[in-house]
Amino acid sequence: MTPAVDLTLPDDWHLHLRDGARMQAVLPHTAQRFGRAIVMPNLAPPVRDTAAALAYRDRILAALPEGSDFNPLMTLYLTDATSQDDIDRAADSTHVVACKLYPAGATTNSDAGVTDIRKISRVLERMTRRDLPLLVHGEVTDPRIDVFDREAVFIDRILLPLREQLPDLRIVFEHITSSEAVRFVSEQDSHVAATITPQHLMLTRNDLLAGGLRPHNYCIPVLKSRNDRKLLIEAATGGDSRFFLGTDSAPHARSEKESACGCAGVYSAHAAIELYAEVFHAAGALDRLEAFASFHGPDFYRLPRNTLKIRLIREDWTVPASYDFGVDTLVPFRAGSQLKWQIEDA
Ligand code: NCD
Ligand code: ZN
Repeated sequence: MTPAVDLTLPDDWHLHLRDGARMQAVLPHTAQRFGRAIVMPNLAPPVRDTAAALAYRDRILAALPEGSDFNPLMTLYLTDATSQDDIDRAADSTHVVACKLYPAGATTNSDAGVTDIRKISRVLERMTRRDLPLLVHGEVTDPRIDVFDREAVFIDRILLPLREQLPDLRIVFEHITSSEAVRFVSEQDSHVAATITPQHLMLTRNDLLAGGLRPHNYCIPVLKSRNDRKLLIEAATGGDSRFFLGTDSAPHARSEKESACGCAGVYSAHAAIELYAEVFHAAGALDRLEAFASFHGPDFYRLPRNTLKIRLIREDWTVPASYDFGVDTLVPFRAGSQLKWQIEDA
């Protein structure tokens, strides 16, 4: 008999859907696998207020495959100019569930991000009062700091002081990549959680840099060492409710990745839960996949857990070399390679 795992329908707590024809191309992958997703606001121009978030949500709903019940959870992009009223409007809305802090210049479409966290201290106080979670891209942008150290330095310079200042602010440390981040989150109380991507559980920087430069494995925060990866796997599979699924699936056109200055982002929505299943299987922790993928996230966000179920079956399949992506194509994570799990009846 083919081994199978039954799971409560999972959610993706960190996702880039883009917009227009590109969104249309990638959205079915996520809608097929997940009940909900936290949709990142780093469009150009960014999603800065509730009106823009609700309009974006309507465009996502209109692009969904027929019959899909997928529910996009929206976020606001914090800038130096975000006001306390912006926070109130978001907290009063049903569909905006968090605000994202991009340090200006840290990653794709982050130029309008926050230039100095002190500029949003009133906004962060209001978020604390309204219990609106802060999602952080946790890397400093200081050019003197080595790219491999930017997450660890962010903890010391930004997160530790912020925890002292606003201990009741709920924070999601997004797409953690380092042993320092695992340790930091493990030492916090239930106000702090973290998402972990499939690529950071499966790859190290060797997969980016050794034996040729592999632009499709390039994402931010950049892949780290074997030891970092080991600790991330332990965190994800260890059952601690502060760690949950967030793919950071970040599609870019092939021509923008295979370039002299290639874009950061790994596209994983085509096989997201299947990739996590592979990691948990290899770690002997398949029985913990459901909590990581379907329980810890909604519990943190104080949303109901999904009730539908999906079944993963142990059957090899080959990831296509590319997918359509509007006018260009998109090279998915593990393109052309075999994956071990698939969704039954997908
Ligand atoms: C993301 C993107 O392309 O929007 N890229 C990435 O490498 N992760 C932005 C982000 O999450 O940092
Ligand atoms: Zn992201």
